[in-house]
Amino acid sequence: MSTFTVQQNLELLGKYRYLEIQFMELMGSWAYTMVDPEIKIGFGRGMFQDSVHADLLGKRIPELKGRSERYQSIAPSDDLVKLIEKIWKNPDELLRMVALYRVLKPHLVAAYRRHLEQLELPADEPTAYILRHIADEEEDHVQWGEKVIQRLMESSKRNEGVAAWQRELEQELHAAGGVRGEGKSPGTYTFRKRHPYSTLPARDARWNVIESPAEFTEKNWSFDTHEGKLHLLHDLLNSEFITVERMGRILADFPEIPWQMKLDMARQAWDEARHAEIVQRRLEELGGHVGMFPTSCFGWEQDVNRPDPLERLALSNMTFESESCKHLRDWIAKAKKTGDTRSQQLVEFLLADEVNHVLYGVHWIDDLTKNDPERRKRVLAYPEQVLASQHPVGVYFDETVNAEKK
Ligand SMILES: [Fe+2]
Ligand SMILES: [Fe+2]
Repeated sequence: MSTFTVQQNLELLGKYRYLEIQFMELMGSWAYTMVDPEIKIGFGRGMFQDSVHADLLGKRIPELKGRSERYQSIAPSDDLVKLIEKIWKNPDELLRMVALYRVLKPHLVAAYRRHLEQLELPADEPTAYILRHIADEEEDHVQWGEKVIQRLMESSKRNEGVAAWQRELEQELHAAGGVRGEGKSPGTYTFRKRHPYSTLPARDARWNVIESPAEFTEKNWSFDTHEGKLHLLHDLLNSEFITVERMGRILADFPEIPWQMKLDMARQAWDEARHAEIVQRRLEELGGHVGMFPTSCFGWEQDVNRPDPLERLALSNMTFESESCKHLRDWIAKAKKTGDTRSQQLVEFLLADEVNHVLYGVHWIDDLTKNDPERRKRVLAYPEQVLASQHPVGVYFDETVNAEKK
């Protein structure tokens, strides 16, 4: 078997990077419409890991003399792009999982493994080093996805359509030249992942989401009683899911934002997915369970339907998450006072992450509106506009955030 030249390597890495970004956007676009909570959490983690894969590939590309921007992302073929579009449009949760974890990702893993066998070594060890890491992690994703698919199939007693869909995609993928677009010229076809107006994210049957924010008083509970903890953790759990979902929407809605901003959003999606796991576990340790109280998705509609990603960050990262930091500090103090060291330790980790999320908002709004005072004014005014009319929580960009920054 012949080994890859610098140029061959370069083009293949650009194609892999295109796919990793597509996977990240598919998960981001789908997360809020998926009912299964394990999928939401897995997507939060998956968006982050795929963003890291794309980042590693993106750093290797210029080292291989691919300094032009066009090498960073190469659509393998028009047919493949159209296949991804078709998969993206499928509304069925199980069929989406099959497409991503039984067709697309396994084929990419196989392409990575083949690539590793054709490397010129030790000349191209830096490529081997990253591809091995990426392929191993993608294999973990495939295994996770397969477990979820099995569970969904058992609970829905569906088999027939699933196998047919998988076969159809396999055939189309093959005809498109596989994930490398072999025998095809690079694609020029593009599509945007557009979303209809959204009033609420999908939740499973256990949740009772109340629509009127004025009736929602869960945040008034105090963390120094057992009952208060249950109410507050339950409310927080829903907020963690919301944040995984809205980070996904930023990644899917705005492919043109700076790469580092995408890495930050994907990182936040992972943080929130871990928070959901942590918070649910603590809730259950304390004898609680999902759905024991009503919950609210206030802010969702005002966030994900905004056409400017910075308005979304101003509202949710700089306002809600900044507010949440204050609450978490209060919880830590109360957990300490009442000797609940377990809750204290966990909430301290949550707070450490949340401070970073507020700073993502501060940083990107500052950076992207530096030369656009009009946009900055509009972005920073947006939270007040929402809160003035609808919600008792009314703090944004307060002293605590400034204090954390120093
Ligand atoms: Fe969080
Ligand atoms: Fe957060």
